[in-house]
Amino acid sequence: MKVLFASESEKPEDWLPLLEKALPQDRFFLDGKERPDVALVANPPPGTLERLSGTKLVQSLWMGVEKLLADPALPRDVPLARLVDPGMVAAMSEMVLAHVLDWHRHLFLYRYHQQHATWRQLDQKLASDRTVGLLGLGELGSDVARKLVALGFKVVGYSRRPKQIEGVRRIADLQLFLEQTEALVCLLPLTPQTRGIIGGDNLRRLRQGGCVINVARGAHVVAADLIAALDSGHLARAYLDVFEREPLPPDDPLWRHPAVTVTPHVAALTDPRTAVPKIAENIERVRRGETPLDLVDREAGY
Ligand SMILES: NC(=O)c1ccc[n+]([C@@H]2O[C@H](COP(=O)([O-])OP(=O)(O)OC[C@H]3O[C@@H](n4cnc5c(N)ncnc54)[C@H](OP(=O)(O)O)[C@@H]3O)[C@@H](O)[C@H]2O)c1
Repeated sequence: MKVLFASESEKPEDWLPLLEKALPQDRFFLDGKERPDVALVANPPPGTLERLSGTKLVQSLWMGVEKLLADPALPRDVPLARLVDPGMVAAMSEMVLAHVLDWHRHLFLYRYHQQHATWRQLDQKLASDRTVGLLGLGELGSDVARKLVALGFKVVGYSRRPKQIEGVRRIADLQLFLEQTEALVCLLPLTPQTRGIIGGDNLRRLRQGGCVINVARGAHVVAADLIAALDSGHLARAYLDVFEREPLPPDDPLWRHPAVTVTPHVAALTDPRTAVPKIAENIERVRRGETPLDLVDREAGY
């Protein structure tokens, strides 16, 4: 099998030794001029995608594929798979749990009090007093949900289709879902239906004193509305890992807002050690003429 590795972001030296070890019979190359059987892509160099017509599989090295889908150069006839990397799934759950616990146990307030040498004990709540609302119950959202349930939180979820996760109540109506939610976690794909979903009335429907954790895509949040909800005291905190413009410009007010935690799109990074077995499985499936895993539904946009 001839496999193209095309990325301006991922370093071939991190990937190729592991790929070559996992698939010794295949040939990996970096030059997009040759027609590959499979293309591994993440932020591919300009001119790559238009040459992939007839390729048996385009395999993204990232979980989110909205940029690839929006690129008119991506041939319509080629199956596109996204990467569901178990290392990323675990990393995302760690990040979300860290933020939920920071808010739930008032750690953000104690950090502030320490700066002012203020000894003040705040009310302690049980995890079961808190309702965490997960926008998105997919690969990432469902793992986060299970881990929050294990810690004793009440968990509600919002997804397009019904979903069975033990201990999680899926609420089909967005308004009702938001009205139940104190800590809102966004793990939706970015599509025309989900863009700007964390804004306006939707923020007002969240319970007083809650928080927003956005680890999906920056355009899910209307930043001005979020800042207004924090300034009015309706929300206690926002944890933001993703932004409409990345890197977040130095003069963006989110950097310095006292109620906002900013991280630089690091909630879950692809780890070649855990990703390569998934990619190898898909290449083997192509070799056997089977359907690859984690194919993107182009109609749904994710
Ligand atoms: N910050 C980071 O470092 C980082 C790392 C990796 C991924 N991400 C982002 O995390 C997000 C989630 O990834 P994932 O792999 O968990 O996605 P996924 O498996 O595709 O799951 C998406 C979930 O969102 C639901 N959904 C989609 N459109 C919807 C709509 N219009 N209304 C209601 N629910 C909708 C889906 O519903 P169904 O279950 O009914 O399909 C599904 O439950 C993506 O935006 C991805 O780009 C961020």
